Amino acid sequence: MTNSDQDEKVRSLHDAYSSGDSKVTSVVYDNWSKEYEAHMRGVGYTHPIMTAAMFTRYQPAGEAPVLDAGAGTGILGEILPALGYRKIDGFDASAGMLALAAEKNLYRNLKFGVLGERLDYEDSSYAGATASGVYTEGHAPLSSLDELVRVVQPGGHIVFSVARIYLGEQIEAKAKQLEDASKWRRAGTSGRYDSTPFDDKAIMAQVYAFEVLC
Ligand SMILES: C[S@@+](CC[C@H](N)C(=O)[O-])C[C@H]1O[C@@H](n2cnc3c(N)ncnc32)[C@H](O)[C@@H]1O
Repeated sequence: MTNSDQDEKVRSLHDAYSSGDSKVTSVVYDNWSKEYEAHMRGVGYTHPIMTAAMFTRYQPAGEAPVLDAGAGTGILGEILPALGYRKIDGFDASAGMLALAAEKNLYRNLKFGVLGERLDYEDSSYAGATASGVYTEGHAPLSSLDELVRVVQPGGHIVFSVARIYLGEQIEAKAKQLEDASKWRRAGTSGRYDSTPFDDKAIMAQVYAFEVLC
């Protein structure tokens, strides 16, 4: 792929950011899926490692199943087993990204799923959940965190990166809404980091961790 093809793909992604439509975003990822990891390596993509680091701080490793929301090509599926999480399921709104994750044979179960719609999982079916690079402009709405709370059991943790327009007031308002409803309590927050440190433009982000209460 030439640099200009790659630039075109990144431009499409930026269009997806502003569309606010998850169907547009998933088509962009379908088209981008085969070059996604090479591109992310090139920009020094840090969300997966920051999300995994915060997950290990709060969620015990072991046999209890954990859910990777917006799993993409499965980068967290490569990291979490090395940290002792032995049963990982995942879902994503892009069939193209999921197909590449499936080829790695790292997830117990992978399926299509859209954050923003009801997820096809039972209540309290996971010990914890992660989402790396998913809570950002044009991707999953913050309102979809309610569904992650539903599928994670009380005492389990939801750990996710937050970037762009969601960072600051928007995530703090959502956190407070679920705190006020006694659905979760804040376990911890990372410091701010650049999610693409090798790129010209910094994309600042933070990882949030919450314990599900009910
Ligand atoms: C930047 S990638 C991150 C993928 C993977 N978690 C990682 O860190 O490499 C964003 C992923 O979120 C998925 N996505 C975007 N909006 C979504 C939504 N509303 N529901 C589920 N997945 C979504 C995209 O298809 C894409 O795979």
